Amino acid sequence: MQKLIVANWKSNKSLVQAQEWLTEVSQLWGDQKPTSALPIVAPPTPLLIPVGEALQSLGWPLAAQDLSPLPAGSYTGAVSGTNLQGLNVSYVIIGHSERRRYFHETPQEVAKKVEQALDVKLTPIVCVDEQTVEAQAATLGENLTSRCVVAYEPRGAIGTGDNVSLSVVEEFKQKVQRLFGAVPFLYGGSVDELNVAEYLLDTDGVLIGSASLSAAQFVKILQAAQGHSAVSS
Ligand code: PGA
Repeated sequence: MQKLIVANWKSNKSLVQAQEWLTEVSQLWGDQKPTSALPIVAPPTPLLIPVGEALQSLGWPLAAQDLSPLPAGSYTGAVSGTNLQGLNVSYVIIGHSERRRYFHETPQEVAKKVEQALDVKLTPIVCVDEQTVEAQAATLGENLTSRCVVAYEPRGAIGTGDNVSLSVVEEFKQKVQRLFGAVPFLYGGSVDELNVAEYLLDTDGVLIGSASLSAAQFVKILQAAQGHSAVSS
């Protein structure tokens, strides 16, 4: 399986800034085809269409950062799975610790979002940490856990430069495999071009926030990721 390199822009970037990022990435990346590492971009919801169109020429998948726990209907302001259909969205990040912290998302709500995502054939990337992993797996139940990509996102490592060691990630991976089964496993938390290759030694990919905001830095990360995989394959 290709390593997933997910750029999570969070609520950063205007349309113009997103276009500048895409132009710079296209210039730096050229027409290389991602081989061992697959870049995925998760822009804010209003930018899904223009970013998705630009990503098509690069052959990179598009991800949403969230979706509603409710189906399509009279829920003003919500973005349902139905709303995301036809926009070339392939993945959706669900239950990021920032959603749990600032928007008070519960494991139950996260589980409903996973159901909604799967209903419209989006792959859920479910974020968990030490505090949430067990409750999240129990709430999802066996039917849903096996259909998720799981991202280990230790809260203290997010946006701090304080990334955790590979051995801590490996220990958490074992826990995830016990609770979720043999699902693809990602790490997120202060990943950059200097440490990405190490994480890819024993994960299926990474989620990158701050270091994905600069086009030049994101391309460096991709180069480091491809380099790693070329060596290990
Ligand atoms: P960071 O964010 O790369 O800025 O630490 C990671 C994340 O929130 O997924």
